[in-house]
Amino acid sequence: MKYSFPEHFWWGSASSALQTEGTREGQTTWDYWFDREPNRFHNGVGPQQTSTFYQHWKTDIQLLKQLNHNSFRTSISWARLIPDGIGEVNPQAVDFYNQVIDELIEQGITPFITLFHFDMPMAMQEIGGWENRDVVEAYARYAQICFELFGDRVLHWFTFNEPIVPVEGGYLYDFHYPNVVDFRRAATVAYHTVLAHALAVRAYRAGHYAGEIGIVLNLTPSYPRSQNPADVKAAHIADLMFNRSFLDPVLRGEYPADLVTLLKSYDQLPACKPEDSALIAEGKIDLLGVNYYQPRRVKCRDSAVNPQAPFMPEWFFDNYEMPGRKMNPYRGWEIYEPGIYDILVNLRDNYGNTRCFISENGMGVENEQRFIENGQINDQYRIDFISGHLTWLHKGISEGCNCLGYHMWTFIDNWSWCNAYKNRYGFIQLDLDTQQRTVKKSGEWFAATSLNNSFDK
Ligand code: BG6
Repeated sequence: MKYSFPEHFWWGSASSALQTEGTREGQTTWDYWFDREPNRFHNGVGPQQTSTFYQHWKTDIQLLKQLNHNSFRTSISWARLIPDGIGEVNPQAVDFYNQVIDELIEQGITPFITLFHFDMPMAMQEIGGWENRDVVEAYARYAQICFELFGDRVLHWFTFNEPIVPVEGGYLYDFHYPNVVDFRRAATVAYHTVLAHALAVRAYRAGHYAGEIGIVLNLTPSYPRSQNPADVKAAHIADLMFNRSFLDPVLRGEYPADLVTLLKSYDQLPACKPEDSALIAEGKIDLLGVNYYQPRRVKCRDSAVNPQAPFMPEWFFDNYEMPGRKMNPYRGWEIYEPGIYDILVNLRDNYGNTRCFISENGMGVENEQRFIENGQINDQYRIDFISGHLTWLHKGISEGCNCLGYHMWTFIDNWSWCNAYKNRYGFIQLDLDTQQRTVKKSGEWFAATSLNNSFDK
């Protein structure tokens, strides 16, 4: 069967500054954490060992073109642009981002730009990071500077990439700096991120720029083990905590009342100011980026909560391993293609069919060298992964969902946080020693799909 996509569908991929650029002046939390605890990073490989986009941006953009991208998302590094987070703008960074943006446009590739992709300037973390409202103000200033510098040419802005991840990693589950485990502080970080988002949206609207502004959220549909009311309630709470804690403020301009009630009953709400709700209401977006990797399956808890243990989302559910689930064993994530359709239908039916696109989807695989045939990685599993998800995305569009594009994670194999280079995600293989780039079979498949605006399956 032939799957065709609407005219002007966005085909492309996503990456981020810290994971690709290398060579940076301003220090981020990642540089600081790596210096102190290199053992936390796979094979002791840190954030300076990247795919060297800072040097190779021009030839990399040629490769994007070769892969028939009509759009590409990356981020600006706050720490590169304003090394101490709040002071002087670094003119070399301005030159660099201007060159990248201009070259993308020159090559017919629409730039999509994220302002914050997990890379907090260390100077900002030193004063408390997102727990401090001064950092919220500093971010708003940074956002405004970016709009003024690049807003004449960048027409698709994203305030944050997956803002729940620094909350989970840094303040609940110990996989980002500052490795705090404290729900109330996590809730404060999440809340202040929403305020920072809303201030950026306010600044963008005030500047009357020609483009649009949105956010990228990683949505994990919450599936209950069964229809037993206890399981359904568990899935509902997981959905409130991990999806609706950001989805509702940015699309409806307010938090879900039952989330607020729940957290209040456990004394976990952040400190709010009276003027916050009007600001949050102003943060409604034009375009939602959806990152989808895996579903979340839950059941009601089997055991009582230990009252001495820190308050956690898992006080309300257990994770559920569905028998027969399909796994990506390298990343430990379930592969469930219909999830992409369920997300789109939810947005259609419950969020006014907001304009959206799939901003990340991808499959990280270990030791891809073993699949080399005639010098090229034959990653048929990745082609199957993409086409499987696109089939469900296509069904969503045919049923009226307002999905405008599909971006893959990622373009060239890049540095993946604590996993460093363990799992490779790229359309293009990176030889870390020589920095040589070689297109994988999936890259060729994607180039053909984008060119034809369709694929056969
Ligand atoms: C997304 C992020 O969560 O998934 C990326 O936006 C990240 O930055 C990607 O690299 C893949 O996850 P990971 O943890 O395997 O790198």
